[in-house]
Amino acid sequence: MRKTIIAGNWKLYKTINEAIELSNGLMRDLFKIDSQGIDIVLCPPFTALSSVSEVILESNIYLGGQDLYWVDEGAFTGEISGKMLKDAGCSFVIIGHSERRQFFGETNETVNKKIKAAIVNSLTPIVCVGELLKEREAGKTFDVLKDHVQNGLTGIDKEDILKIVIAYEPVWAIGTGKTATPVQAQEAHKYIRDLLAKLYGQDIADQIRIQYGGSVKPDNIVELMKQPDLDGALVGGASLQINSFSEIVKKALEVIK
Ligand code: 13P
Repeated sequence: MRKTIIAGNWKLYKTINEAIELSNGLMRDLFKIDSQGIDIVLCPPFTALSSVSEVILESNIYLGGQDLYWVDEGAFTGEISGKMLKDAGCSFVIIGHSERRQFFGETNETVNKKIKAAIVNSLTPIVCVGELLKEREAGKTFDVLKDHVQNGLTGIDKEDILKIVIAYEPVWAIGTGKTATPVQAQEAHKYIRDLLAKLYGQDIADQIRIQYGGSVKPDNIVELMKQPDLDGALVGGASLQINSFSEIVKKALEVIK
């Protein structure tokens, strides 16, 4: 049985004080829930990691970074390493988000190096994959998913693949309010799981968590979570408000697999 994982990607939002306020509010709302069945992860900007880490210390909420560089230390101005994320209290790290692929030159090759660096530093990588609108319209969704999954995971063995979470984020659904339908999401998740089964065997593929991301809101989380291959959500906009993120977590918990 795969444990549900709901993560909030705060992107380029929240000053330190705002991040403390948001995480304090989430602590109040989520501290008492039965967290046995769910991993809750907050991914603030780098500047707020330490402050949020203090707020959620010894709680049922985990901390994650939004990116990392694959070298632990060195002359790489502006970069943050896995070792530094770990030091700041992180257990997770988002890798290969479409915004990084689109605007910052992220490739399958850099994604692959980052996944390996995350694992070495005992961080759980949340590896994002997903197609652009024009790729979907051209009938290339599965080709893109195959490219992202297969090439992003090059050299990752059976032991390490179990330490990874995959996030399917169709780019056309990110920040647009246009969520993939539960059927579209399930179809993509099933394709990814079948591909993982070809690469690693069915038994391992059945254990890998695949989150959905793209305009997830309190009013669509339940139908999405009911899909058999959907194991959680990576939430952008709706993770920036206490009420909407807590509601998403609570509603996800209600869906018993
Ligand atoms: P939205 O929930 O704002 O569409 O963002 C999704 C996302 O990119 C999460 O990583």
